[in-house]
Amino acid sequence: MVRHKLRSSDFLGLDMLDGGELEDLLDEALRLKAEGVKGFRPLAHKNIGLLFEKPSTRTRVSFEVAVTMLGGHPLTLVGSELQLGRGESIEDTGKVLSRYVDGLVVRTFGHDRLNTMAAASGVPVINALTDLCHPCQALADMLTIMEYKGLTGGLKLAYVGDGNNVAHSLMRAGTLLGMNVTVSTPEGHGPDAGIVEECKEHCETYGSTMELGYDPAAGVRGADIVYTDVWVSMGTGEDPGSAGEAFEGFQVNDELLSGASDDVMVMHCLPAHRGEEITDEVIDGSHSAVWDQAENRLHAQVALLGMIFS
Ligand code: CP
Ligand code: NVA
Repeated sequence: MVRHKLRSSDFLGLDMLDGGELEDLLDEALRLKAEGVKGFRPLAHKNIGLLFEKPSTRTRVSFEVAVTMLGGHPLTLVGSELQLGRGESIEDTGKVLSRYVDGLVVRTFGHDRLNTMAAASGVPVINALTDLCHPCQALADMLTIMEYKGLTGGLKLAYVGDGNNVAHSLMRAGTLLGMNVTVSTPEGHGPDAGIVEECKEHCETYGSTMELGYDPAAGVRGADIVYTDVWVSMGTGEDPGSAGEAFEGFQVNDELLSGASDDVMVMHCLPAHRGEEITDEVIDGSHSAVWDQAENRLHAQVALLGMIFS
């Protein structure tokens, strides 16, 4: 029922896909969303562990539903409630869990923890967010852009805010799909240098462009899509709401958007800190795509699971 398979059974980051493979995944997601999964049950008689070491609403619930839609049984495991929370290693946890389950979806802190889990467990591992990247989010983001704009190549995608995990996956996806990506952050909050280098290589291969800068007005000028995320991410040790001063001028509000394209679409992975990185007027306004974007987490993950397990 899926037309494509993934090269690797793990999905740890978008560095594991080339542009064509990402397009194939998005095509599957669009098709499965339109047609429904009907009798497609690649997870029948399979148990999938969903291990969360950080809070989650969208990722947790959309994976639980996606696994169930494909005939499988999701087991949500909260890190602090496992022996993991009392010091058992991620490696030993991965070895043991993979004796019970057929796949693991993992949200954790350092990306090395995810890599360790994948190396230790003998079952497919999917990244449900690390400090470095959030690839399942970017799948839903690109799916939403395709629905709203009909294509991705040549569009100007402007990210404004912290150069964080969500920004990293968005940069990777956008440059894999031929987009013109700008990333505007305060100084000291720029994206990871290794990911920037990787995206520059994508630009050579896929005809995309990427510009980094510190001026959000310049970054969003003429943008087809403006994207933001919280200024303080989970696991940074900082209090949410503590970053205001550094991010002055980086709020996505009507004034900033006045420089974007007339039919700009506004995106946010959620959860939003309304009044900080985005205003109520913008997130609830006619340009906002955030609720469709959140829904598309489900459709993107149905396609991803289908391509891994069928
Ligand atoms: N966007 C996202 O990953 O949301 P959750 O933290 O609620 O899963
Ligand atoms: N950058 C945010 C995304 C949450 C989905 C965080 O890591 O907290």
